[in-house]
Parts: sequence; C-alpha cells; structure tokens
Amino acid sequence: MNLIHYLKGKKKAVDGFLGNYVSSPRKRKDCPVHLRKAIGYSLMAGGKRIRPVLSIASYEAAGGKSNNIIPVASSIELIHTYSLIHDDLPAMDNDDFRRNKPTAHKVFGEAAAILAGDALLADAFHIISSVSMDPAKLICVIHELANACGPEGMVGGQAADIMLEGKKAKKKDILYIHTHKTGALIRASVRIGAIMADSGPDTLASLTEYGEKTGLAFQIIDDILNITGTKAEMGKSTGSDVARGKNTYPSIFGLRKSEKIAEKLIDESIEALKDFDKKADPLREIARYILARRN
Ligand code: IPE
Ligand code: IPE
Ligand code: MG
Ligand code: MG
Repeated sequence: MNLIHYLKGKKKAVDGFLGNYVSSPRKRKDCPVHLRKAIGYSLMAGGKRIRPVLSIASYEAAGGKSNNIIPVASSIELIHTYSLIHDDLPAMDNDDFRRNKPTAHKVFGEAAAILAGDALLADAFHIISSVSMDPAKLICVIHELANACGPEGMVGGQAADIMLEGKKAKKKDILYIHTHKTGALIRASVRIGAIMADSGPDTLASLTEYGEKTGLAFQIIDDILNITGTKAEMGKSTGSDVARGKNTYPSIFGLRKSEKIAEKLIDESIEALKDFDKKADPLREIARYILARRN
C-alpha cells in the first residue's frame, strides 16, 4: 500500500468535514466573529490530522465501512486543536509559533485563545452526539473520549508536565506524563475506530495495545525532534524543551536510548496487529511513519 496516498485521502476527508464545521450556518449566526475566527484559524492551520486518520484506519482494520466514522474522527481533531491552543498559552508552554503560524493567543489575544479551546472541546461532543447511530455505541464513544481528555487522561498529563517543569522527574513520572498528555488521546482515537466498527474484545484489546504503544512513541519522537528538528520542518519552535526545563525522554534517557525505546514500541505496536489481515496495513505503515517522521 502507498501510505502517502492513504494519508492524503483521509486527511482530505477530515479537512473537508472540518472546513464545513468552521463555516457552518450555526457558527456564522450565533458565534461572535472574533471567536469564530480564532477557532477557524487554529483548526484550519494545517495539522497532520494523525489522530483522525488513526481512528479511520483502526475502523477500517476492524472491518468498518460506513462514513459515520468521519464526523467522529474529525471531532478528535477538535479536541487535539483545543489542547494545542491551551498548551501554547503563556501560562503553559508560552509558545508563539504553531502549525507554521503565530499561535492563537498571539493573533487573537489570550482570552479568545482560551475560549476558542473551550469552544472546540464542547463542539467535539456536540458533533459526535449529532451522528445518527446506535445510541449505546454513541455513549460508549463519548465515554471513551471524555475519559481520554479529562483529568485521568490528557489534562492529567498536562498538569504533571507543567508541575514538574524545572524539576528532575523520575522515570515513572515521565512515563505518566507522556502516556497521558499525548498517549491517552491517540489510544482513544484507535479505540474509538474499533468501537465504531463493533469490534469484539480480542480485536479491541489488540488495537488498544497498538494505540498505547504508538501513542507513547509519538511523544518520544516529538521530544527527539524538539532537539534534532528545525522550526521550518516542524512548524513550531524547537529547542524549547531544554530552554523551559521540560522533562522529556532525551532529558532522562539521552537521545540514542530514546530512539531505541521508540523503535521497540513501534515494533511491538506492529506485532500487536499480527492476527489482522491486510486491512490493517495502513495502521502498520502509520506506525513506521510515526518513527520516521520529521514533522
Ligand atoms: C503535537 O501534535 C503535540 C503533541 C502531542 C506531540 P501533532 O504533531 O500531531 O501536531 P499537528 O496536529 O500535526 O500540528
Ligand atoms: C503537547 O505536548 C501535548 C498536548 C497539547 C496535550 P508538548 O507541549 O510537548 O507538544 P508541543 O511540542 O508543544 O507540540
Ligand atoms: Mg506542553
Ligand atoms: Mg508545548
């Protein structure tokens, strides 16, 4: 299979949905213009859309066929974009460049950036709950996503990341930070694809393992690229983790060992798919891409 072609096709479907969301009549009518602009600016700034693509690829690997996955998968990107807008705020990582553009708070002000994040989080659940599908399954998806982005998921990881800034974290702390601030939403993206495809417990368990391992590897590679990548490649500032005293895999294990840990996680994530047929090839290729990526 051709991964570039696959990623392009799925990204197009997600971008199409997100473009409609940003310009929908409801948004135009009832949402203040400044807030609507801040939402659209960050959401349409050109992210990789890796979480929705993972959700769609998981859905297809588990035999799913309907288009219902597109709004659900795209909602995950709303939550991810909210997390980036808030992550960049002065009170958090204080970054002024993201997705090749000045950050939302630089352009629209801090209040609008905070509120755009709040709006995206609420709208993600609004969109999912508007999808016409089995209500029990819908609740299962909402339950999964709410848990992944809440205090025992992404927000918990972000809190630990900030609290341990400038302090020397233990290995168990860095594992907590990475599996929560980034791993939880990636794991949920993959699981939601599986749930949407009515997976049985064995399929769900295998895809969960895949999501956990690729999710942790994704953040380890992000840490590595913060040192070895360039601002032009990444579309965001590099060198910032050391400058802010962030705890990262390289700060604790060194670059070489961090690369080895990520490689092992990716091998294991592909191994978790051993009982899947070629419908899981996109997931296998995405895992390899997560390791090799330069942005
Ligand atoms: C950046 O995520 C933040 C992390 C969790 C590492 P991505 O690398 O997926 O960022 P975009 O969406 O492509 O901008
Ligand atoms: C981002 O982590 C995690 C979330 C936004 C939830 P980082 O702070 O390490 O990511 P970048 O480098 O700003 O993208
Ligand atoms: Mg951060
Ligand atoms: Mg950051």
